[in-house]
Amino acid sequence: MKTIILLSLVFMAMGTQATSIDEQLKALIETNNLQPLNKAPRAKIEIIRLGQRLFSDRKLSGNRDITCMHCHHPALGTSDNLPLPIGAGGEGLGQNRRQLGAKIIPRNSPALINLGYTEITDMFWDGRVSHDPKTGELQTPEPALNGKNPKASHITKYLTSSLAAQVIFPITSKEEMRGFENNELASLNSNLEIWNKVMHRLINGEQATFYQDLFSKAFPEIKNHKDFNIGHVGNALAAFISYNFNLVNTPYDRYLRGDVHAMNEPEKKGLKVFLTRGKCVNCHAGKHLSNFEYKTTGTPQIAVLGSDKIDDRGRFDVTGVKRDLYKFRTPPLRNIVLTAPYMHTGVFKDLTGVIEHYDNVKKSMREFKVTDEIQSLYDEKIVLDTDAKRNKLRFQLMSIGELRKGLKLTKSEKDNLLIFLRDALSDDRIKSNSEILSQEKL
Ligand code: HEC
Ligand code: HEC
Repeated sequence: MKTIILLSLVFMAMGTQATSIDEQLKALIETNNLQPLNKAPRAKIEIIRLGQRLFSDRKLSGNRDITCMHCHHPALGTSDNLPLPIGAGGEGLGQNRRQLGAKIIPRNSPALINLGYTEITDMFWDGRVSHDPKTGELQTPEPALNGKNPKASHITKYLTSSLAAQVIFPITSKEEMRGFENNELASLNSNLEIWNKVMHRLINGEQATFYQDLFSKAFPEIKNHKDFNIGHVGNALAAFISYNFNLVNTPYDRYLRGDVHAMNEPEKKGLKVFLTRGKCVNCHAGKHLSNFEYKTTGTPQIAVLGSDKIDDRGRFDVTGVKRDLYKFRTPPLRNIVLTAPYMHTGVFKDLTGVIEHYDNVKKSMREFKVTDEIQSLYDEKIVLDTDAKRNKLRFQLMSIGELRKGLKLTKSEKDNLLIFLRDALSDDRIKSNSEILSQEKL
């Protein structure tokens, strides 16, 4: 009798082994319709080469003092490692960057990883640049590019994705790249004029023949150098970003493709928390681990003392619709470990900070402080928004009841979730050597 009980216990244990974590995940993956991400389509190599050059060229900035790389550096996960970036006029890279009178940009510099997909229709934390892949229509801060029959159709013809349209805007921003004085771009009032002047620098400037050659090879249909426009720049920068920062070979993707050994036990348990108790998949869903919807997550708001961005209303500033107050675009999560600090103002220095925030948003909002670590990166004073009414809205407008109540994850749930985010979502190339990113052979 004893042996029978013992044996059946053994069989029961084996039974639970069989409906183990893999079985549970299989069902969850189906319900949530999770899918691996395929590589993004690749542009012509000549266009990518032109984009690569432009990405690191100071000529795109008014005073030739800053490049895209300063805020989106490959060795810093295509971001800058700062909560808030330091714009034109600053010196140095990453946490060594010094202000020297430069402006602090009010939002965190996002990663440029896996952005080359036309289904990603909106760019920026608030989505103020968007592209409709069906009609090709754009919505941007520049009216001449927008709508069905845009005035600048010679430009929009080449802005074939939200990414291509986005990348021509940092050039126009005084804080980010254009600078406030001492250059021929600073005093211009129209985006179209700024873009024309930048083209003039590239096509007729000190490296004229070099760039003429690169542009001609990339866009051989253009016969006359004066017909190159900022649309070509946008197209090439997007081609480079899309190709060079396309990192989809992760344990998570291999697991979804059927390799049950691709993720280890803690990673699998972490995925389960992501899909169940953590509620993460409510927003970080689909192929990109983002549904790209606008949501508020109760993120503490910081800004430079005196700046009106202390009341950064996010999506509301684009749509004017009240329910969009304090909402930001849900970010994709592959290779997320590379791009600390996190959220639209970089308030959390690591993924543990993000998990603790989601676990108890109320506490996180109440207890958040601008640390010395954050303050020491800047000359100007950084302050936290303590306005009770605004913080109440940031909290109440969270769409998920569990987030308002608190997730109350256990220590091991948190640990496994961290391991999943950190390891299972990272491309192997990153794990082996992050410098590969910057030395990609073309
Ligand atoms: C001074 C820092 C800085 C510089 C220089 C800069 N960026 Fe950015 N970039 C940012 C910040 C900050 C944002 C987010 C702003 C927002 O959402 O309001 C951003 C957003 C983006 C995005 C949108 C990503 C997304 O997921 O929405 C892309 C693409 C991008 N930048 C590419 C570029 C390119 C290409 C250049 C060079 C032409 C460039 N950036 C120069 C700081 C910078
Ligand atoms: C209600 C939708 C929603 C839920 C649920 C949610 N997120 Fe987010 N997530 C967002 C949004 C929106 C942001 C950007 C918020 C901001 O910048 O203020 C974000 C930001 C993040 C970031 C920082 C990304 C970056 O590039 O800075 C991480 C990491 C993250 N979420 C992980 C998670 C995890 C893990 C969970 C589950 C515990 C989760 N999220 C649950 C919508 C959500």
